[in-house]
Amino acid sequence: MKAVTWQGVGDMRVERVPDPELVNPRDAIIRVTSTAICGSDLHPYDGKIPTMEKGDIMGHEFMGVVEEVGPSVKNLKRGDRVVVPFNICCGTCWYCRNDLWAQCSNSNPNAPLVEAATGGFNPAALFGYSHMYGGYAGGQAEYARVPFADVGPLKIESDIADEKVLFLTDIFPTGYQAAEACGIKPGDTVAVWGCGPVGLFAIQSAYLLGAERVIAVDRFPDRLAMARDLCKAEVVNYEEIEDPISFVLKDMTGGRGPDHVIDAVGMEAHGTGIYDQVDRFKQFTKVQLDRATALREAILACGKGGTVSIPGVYIGFIDKFPMGAAFAKGLTFKMGQTNTQKYVKPLLDMIEAGKIDPSQVITHRVPIDEAPEMYRTFRDKKDGCIKVVLKP
Ligand SMILES: NC(=O)c1ccc[n+]([C@@H]2O[C@H](COP(=O)([O-])OP(=O)(O)OC[C@H]3O[C@@H](n4cnc5c(N)ncnc54)[C@H](O)[C@@H]3O)[C@@H](O)[C@H]2O)c1
Ligand SMILES: [Zn+2]
Ligand SMILES: [Zn+2]
Repeated sequence: MKAVTWQGVGDMRVERVPDPELVNPRDAIIRVTSTAICGSDLHPYDGKIPTMEKGDIMGHEFMGVVEEVGPSVKNLKRGDRVVVPFNICCGTCWYCRNDLWAQCSNSNPNAPLVEAATGGFNPAALFGYSHMYGGYAGGQAEYARVPFADVGPLKIESDIADEKVLFLTDIFPTGYQAAEACGIKPGDTVAVWGCGPVGLFAIQSAYLLGAERVIAVDRFPDRLAMARDLCKAEVVNYEEIEDPISFVLKDMTGGRGPDHVIDAVGMEAHGTGIYDQVDRFKQFTKVQLDRATALREAILACGKGGTVSIPGVYIGFIDKFPMGAAFAKGLTFKMGQTNTQKYVKPLLDMIEAGKIDPSQVITHRVPIDEAPEMYRTFRDKKDGCIKVVLKP
């Protein structure tokens, strides 16, 4: 079959690889009908995720049709149409049973690789996302093996288009969890850093959860336009302001600051000036793995007593963390990989009820052969690229 493979930094290639096979009784094989490139895929593309190996199959946002199931998978059969959450979860450990799906203790066969960085804990494995996250083949391919298929995939019973439900696998739940973590009350203002797909879903989710105002921060006009026109956010282009963003947001909110802030940017934030140079040097030399410009700004801008919600991915240590500001303002921190399985069904209901149409963030639809070029376009934010859907 054809699959998008990681071959090194900045080098994705579509290659012919062996078809996946059932390995365990709880596996299923899915014929992928739609798959997408996530902002998280840019981190291994840019060489920022350790333990990638040449030839690894990428992709953790995918859906398709069940081809084959192992003998223990009783809830699915050949021909069923499913969306597949990006976390791989056993469904029976304490974490899965307590809706902390991203912390599943049983799915990562390479747990020791990640435990070295987490104080001895292992979060759930992920599709197509390095060997420290399990080394599972991803879904940017014609077929994918889905472990614990009796737990993760959700059957799509209606004939709703792939494009409307594909993002249930990751970015819609991710934006939703990020907004939900803020504990939004009526009248609240939420500020969101990053108007990529995750930021755009965080904005829409904040409104769905009752926010009165959402202010979105980015620098790309096309992304800010989507935040404003589609998602109804007030927008700030941080390249067009004189004062630090925290002061601008304080002014926009009558001196209170945003009640909550969301960092939908993560470890590869864009920055300027000497601090950014220092961050880049430290990231390059692996003294520090994360460039946290957006996170620092979000903490400084957050109003007193607010929540800093962090869906953006971080992997290592951060310097110049404004701990004093966070402490002085009594902030709450919420973060992590999304507990996707918790949200897939309720968010599918919202889509089917017409409350949100996730397909509106798609700007590029291409055959899977064009994946290498699309990775470049999406990374460089060229050609108005916000979300790419690949067709195997
Ligand atoms: N927690 C999870 O489970 C989960 C799931 C999916 C994605 N993510 C993470 O969410 C983040 C965003 O994903 P995406 O798909 O939207 O990516 P993306 O690359 O398309 O978007 C990131 C956006 O952040 C903007 N940005 C960069 N520096 C900024 C700054 N200093 N201030 C404000 N904006 C800035 C960029 O211009 C870009 O528009 C990534 O880190 C990704 O890994 C996390
Ligand atoms: Zn993702
Ligand atoms: Zn589990």
